[in-house]
Amino acid sequence: MLLGVNIDHIAVLREARKVDDPNVLEAALLCANLCDQITLHVREDRRHTNEKDLENILNFCKNIVNLECSSDEKMIELACKFKPHRITLVPEKREELTTEGGLNLENAKLKTAIKKLKQQKIELSLFIDPNLEDVKKASYLGADFIELHTGHFANLYNALFSNILKTPYAIKELDLPRTQLEEKFKLELEKLANSAKLAHELKLKVAAGHGLNYKNVKYITQITEICELNIGQSIVARSIFVGLERAILEMKALINEN
Ligand code: PXP
Repeated sequence: MLLGVNIDHIAVLREARKVDDPNVLEAALLCANLCDQITLHVREDRRHTNEKDLENILNFCKNIVNLECSSDEKMIELACKFKPHRITLVPEKREELTTEGGLNLENAKLKTAIKKLKQQKIELSLFIDPNLEDVKKASYLGADFIELHTGHFANLYNALFSNILKTPYAIKELDLPRTQLEEKFKLELEKLANSAKLAHELKLKVAAGHGLNYKNVKYITQITEICELNIGQSIVARSIFVGLERAILEMKALINEN
């Protein structure tokens, strides 16, 4: 299974002071030697990575570069200008902390964006919620890849197996009896597995990401149709304690355990 390291979280730290420290390219170069792909999300408000990061990474990293962006016209212009190896279209809301769900595949702006990216022959991935209808739609829209949103799975995992419900970061809707949480967790995993299976049958390549960490990733690696994971927060968080190199190698070992 391939690992894409999402380097936005390094840029988050840089932007906290706006002093080019940590240097995002330096981090990307280190990651590039250890993982299979560099993923970055250039947001409309440039709250972490920006076009200069994208340009530097494309110029100096030998890896595949996966640019995540919204379907906004200006973002698609940027994507067409820099031509990364892959574009993953994601929904984007200005007020969200991070991407909260998969794309609305009926959106007209999305369809225009896809048309433009296809003209440029850039590999296209669509970030979708794990359900069969959206997999079929993604295939119909001409995606090469889908990335399954694992955020809901990760939230359920945290509610079941961590102390998050006792912290200020608890999600109110998940304050449920344990049996209900277990049922939802099982269902979410089934949705991920069935979506990956259908996508594979439809000849789509299947990635997954969001909220994956050193503990929960073992459930996702059991889904054999998933060929790639994009992981950011947990790797960068762990790197504070063990360094970026070890954090990536530990994750690589875990995702290739089976
Ligand atoms: N994949 C997509 C499409 C994302 O939007 C993100 C978050 O930027 C990730 C993967 C990585 O998520 P995390 O930082 O929670 O590992």
